[in-house]
Amino acid sequence: MQQSFYALIRDDMKAVDAVIQTQLHSNVVLINQVAQYIIAGGGKRMRPSLLLLAAGSLGYRGEHQHMLAAVIEFIHTATLLHDDVVDESALRRGRETANVVFGNAASVLAGDFLHSRAFQMMVQVGNLRAMQVLSDATNVIAEGEVLQLMNCHDPDVDEANYLKVIRFKTARLFEAAAQLGAIVAGATPEEERGLVAYGMHLGTAFQLVDDVLDYSADETETGKHLGDDLAEGKPTLPLIHVMQHGAPEAAAAVRRAIETGGRDDFPAVLAAIRATDALAHTRHVAQMEAEQAKTAISPLPDSQYKKALLELAAFAADRTH
Ligand code: IPE
Ligand code: IPE
Ligand code: MG
Ligand code: MG
Repeated sequence: MQQSFYALIRDDMKAVDAVIQTQLHSNVVLINQVAQYIIAGGGKRMRPSLLLLAAGSLGYRGEHQHMLAAVIEFIHTATLLHDDVVDESALRRGRETANVVFGNAASVLAGDFLHSRAFQMMVQVGNLRAMQVLSDATNVIAEGEVLQLMNCHDPDVDEANYLKVIRFKTARLFEAAAQLGAIVAGATPEEERGLVAYGMHLGTAFQLVDDVLDYSADETETGKHLGDDLAEGKPTLPLIHVMQHGAPEAAAAVRRAIETGGRDDFPAVLAAIRATDALAHTRHVAQMEAEQAKTAISPLPDSQYKKALLELAAFAADRTH
């Protein structure tokens, strides 16, 4: 991520990378291969950045933040390994997914390794509140992925149901990252509440845009294939918008495509999305979430870190990768 504020956390992020490399290690060769493969793919490191910025905004300069930021990135990476199996995705971080290279079994098991390593690391930090936040978040993410599975191929999923899924599967980890930053820094209850709400709205905006990019991105920028959501029959907000506000033929085409899944209907669905301005609508909802994120951190003292958090919220809604 090349945002202007990156310089603020460059040294901390180096420390996080060092923890990641050390903690990735296993004596089981295949685990090392799969874990190194996905971590070497890079990623934007949004969630660890958020934790570091949140802690920094409250003046924290200690070391626990590096371990906890690595924990968050491990949990994120584990969910990606599992998610690409569930979604049958073939491209991630600009390279073939681990499930394509190593197979589904190895991906699921390496994901389990990363999850459980994350729990070993958080025990080392030894902060019971941090463990509570992380264990709750991990549990809710799993619920979100299963709720979404239940929604697949169902064209009657409404916006409220969709929002619940993305709050669970994605926003909750952003929320946890922000809250951990607050906890290590010894935030006041008001500051912690502000950062929690910030993380929740930021993560919601982030996933709304992810769902826009699934229909519109430049694949070389996102490093993921277009059309994965439709292939699974996933009723995301762009499609819900067409079904609720599109012309009858457009709405019917999208309903059918959700029911059937696959990639054959992608051009027709794209035309229906364009005719209904559904991506602009979804971006707008993301921008409103980003605004709420910014408002939520008004209790924080002014600083470069707070400024960076404001920029991060704008990035989540405007991003093209
Ligand atoms: C992908 O997250 C999964 C979603 C919640 C959309 P990121 O877009 O943060 O993935 P990386 O870590 O940058 O690859
Ligand atoms: C990712 O959701 C959320 C989690 C990994 C829990 P998606 O399936 O929408 O994300 P991408 O598009 O594969 O990154
Ligand atoms: Mg996916
Ligand atoms: Mg998914």
